[in-house]
Amino acid sequence: MSAGVETVTFRPSGPLRGRLRVPGDKSITQRALLIGAVCDGPLEIVEPVWAGDPLATAGMVSALGVAVDGLARRERRVVVHGVGLRGLHAPGRPLDAGNSGTGMRLLAGLLAGQRGRFVIDGDRYLRARPMGRIVVPLRAMGARLDARDDQFAPLAIEGGALRAIRYEPPVASAQVKSCLLLAGLLADGETVVVEPAGSRDHTERMLAAAGAPLACRGSEIAVRGAERLRLDRIVVPGDLSSAAFLVAAALLVPGSRLVIANVGLNPTRLGFCQAVRRMGGRLEWTVTRTDGGEPRGDLEVWASALHGTTVPARETPSLIDEVTLIALLGCFAEGETVVEGVADLRAKETDRLAAIVDILTGLGGKAEAGGDVLRVCSAPLRGGALSSRGDHRLALLGAVAGLACPAGVSVSGFGAAAVSFPGFTDSLAEVLSS
Ligand code: S3P
Repeated sequence: MSAGVETVTFRPSGPLRGRLRVPGDKSITQRALLIGAVCDGPLEIVEPVWAGDPLATAGMVSALGVAVDGLARRERRVVVHGVGLRGLHAPGRPLDAGNSGTGMRLLAGLLAGQRGRFVIDGDRYLRARPMGRIVVPLRAMGARLDARDDQFAPLAIEGGALRAIRYEPPVASAQVKSCLLLAGLLADGETVVVEPAGSRDHTERMLAAAGAPLACRGSEIAVRGAERLRLDRIVVPGDLSSAAFLVAAALLVPGSRLVIANVGLNPTRLGFCQAVRRMGGRLEWTVTRTDGGEPRGDLEVWASALHGTTVPARETPSLIDEVTLIALLGCFAEGETVVEGVADLRAKETDRLAAIVDILTGLGGKAEAGGDVLRVCSAPLRGGALSSRGDHRLALLGAVAGLACPAGVSVSGFGAAAVSFPGFTDSLAEVLSS
């Protein structure tokens, strides 16, 4: 590894060996901050991840009048002093969601039912992401909210009374589902979200732990208007989506054997692990504990010879943030690797589908995207240079590719990695030297 200003070069080095932990789960940390904000009384969050996205969400929560002890020093334990389901205060200035789609979309659901006028804005990448997917159903619930061209941030929300709806989002999105469940807590009647395919269910698990009137019936999740939530403590597990980058590196670098300890093993996030196994990857995981409804345990991976697989559309939501890695592994796998149902990757921090194809072909690979399907053919990569395009998962993709390509990979804009995986290069150095 060598670093220039924001450009970091990753080169093949020895195997990845040893045992390490990865930073806490970004989705769970953000939900804990937001749900904690509307609990009655304090919620202690242990081992949150202080990455860019959760910091932005914590900043918004503070601006809404919620004290977060320990935030200023980014401590290992913070306490969110919840103000009750309807107790958030309009700050009189725009809230800044930064780069975080989760922060913006989930908070919009909560604010739609508060008293007051709120504006949520974000960085230039977030301003380009589709918000119509929450604007349409929130308006159906009676929310008064405006978005630029009815689609883009900033969002202006005039909070008020909400009514329950039954809604089937056109895309499987945990952010849309969670936005509506949070709004549903503030609505009259029973709000039902019918998922087209199962997406991550951290919101459901945390709300259930907090005593929300919530029921999961197959693909339907129902929530009734509530009076109060209460949750004392959440211990955040390691982020499986961050661990996945190290897993991919260990699979590709000969002689590697790595244990990632205390990582979240929620079944709705296991798609990457299952696809890797189908590709011939040696990967084992064991749930050792469940805390706040979230299973966690150790993941062990060995360098492996891989072959292609097909990920059907119904499985894609369970590895939505790891499609980059399945594509990278596909370059080194025998035969063809296909991921179906990938169109929504165009709506991530950047057009991630176009970027995957562009990056892998630029490094010497064979990848193409047509409509809803990504195809990658076996073609070991040479290496080269790429830009993160401001997208944390592309920055980290470049790092893993560099370890596996003879010529290494230079990643410009590598700083974006800190949006989800602060300290990535230190974690890597730890396992490269042990
Ligand atoms: C997330 C949901 C997913 C995922 C994102 C985090 C969440 O987004 O890609 O990184 O925390 O709910 P979508 O809901 O847009 O699929």
